[in-house]
Amino acid sequence: MAQEKKIKRIAINTGGGDAPGLNAVIKAVTVSALNRGWEVIGIRDGYNGLFLPENYPKGDGLINLTYELVEDITPQGGTILGTTNRGNPTRYPMKDPNGKIIEVDRTDEVLAGFRRAKIDALVAIGGDGSLFMANGFAKHGLRVVGVPKTIDNDLDGTVLTFGFETAVDFATQATDRLHTTAHSHKRVMIVELMGRYAGWIALETGIATSADVVLIPEIPYDLDIVAEHINKNFGLGRKHAIVVIAEGAKPKGGETAVIERESGKAERLGGAANILEASLKGKIENEIRTVILGHLLRGGSPTSFDRRLSLRFGAAAVRALDEGMNSIMVALDPPTVRYVPLDQISSKMRTVDLESDTVATARDLGICFGD
Ligand code: F6P
Repeated sequence: MAQEKKIKRIAINTGGGDAPGLNAVIKAVTVSALNRGWEVIGIRDGYNGLFLPENYPKGDGLINLTYELVEDITPQGGTILGTTNRGNPTRYPMKDPNGKIIEVDRTDEVLAGFRRAKIDALVAIGGDGSLFMANGFAKHGLRVVGVPKTIDNDLDGTVLTFGFETAVDFATQATDRLHTTAHSHKRVMIVELMGRYAGWIALETGIATSADVVLIPEIPYDLDIVAEHINKNFGLGRKHAIVVIAEGAKPKGGETAVIERESGKAERLGGAANILEASLKGKIENEIRTVILGHLLRGGSPTSFDRRLSLRFGAAAVRALDEGMNSIMVALDPPTVRYVPLDQISSKMRTVDLESDTVATARDLGICFGD
């Protein structure tokens, strides 16, 4: 793992969907690197700023990151560098001579871009797709350290990704509000939360808000069991019901709700709550309403926890480079941040462990998973 070449200049980029905490990582990487006498270059929009210079006519695809630029960004949501989950350079959609869209591997152009910009190492902040890509570039000789980002918390190798805690915090506040209005109208409120094929956000939010039902992708639900549980609770004198459903949840024998499938892009999930609402009608007398929180979970300022985790990850990434490490990801392994080889994590998705004490806690609290 040890590398000989002395670092003078590093790059940092953010890829995939944004997550609260990205700017805090950028700040920690920038300050830790500048303090070591290194230069720090921010690449705009994933790798676009580097390998598609024609899209950045004034040469502003690359930003020289300074103390001043990152001074106040820790509490800011989003990413000052911009991001994209389109146009993966290793499978870049282009038109062939017949006008047909084909996927082209532009890895060589990306690597040439790094050489042109005299960049010695990359801190890649991203989820599974971005880290997989960065690992591919590492295999072609680029020195890479990854930082795990996603509100979904579904990355293998780390106990937590940054952004997750902020998403759960917001979902908790929103669901608390649904309790009061549901109570007034004796309604069933279904709240759909992002998370892709993992139920972490829904599970933690459901527990925090004492939901009646939590539906997650890891446990295909039985509609009759869900309806019976809600009716039983009403029968026991409860005035309303809250159902927290992950966007990736599906009924037993049914399909995940997909809004859009597009070549070269991840499936766009959504609509699980609407499907559930329609199927519950007739099985429950009380009115049912549905709320889809969607991208609200990704926006806004990171919580104090996520700021601190992001700052720790960013600083650890620079320490790793300084110690000569390569092809690794920083990871939370409480109470410490450790390093895991990118090869070990990038192809796996971390889903909810059904034997975990968190799931047991939910069951002990009387939360129904529809099983
Ligand atoms: O991976 C993060 C995430 O927010 C998922 O929870 C969600 O399914 C997806 O991204 C939405 O992506 P987009 O912003 O492209 O619609």
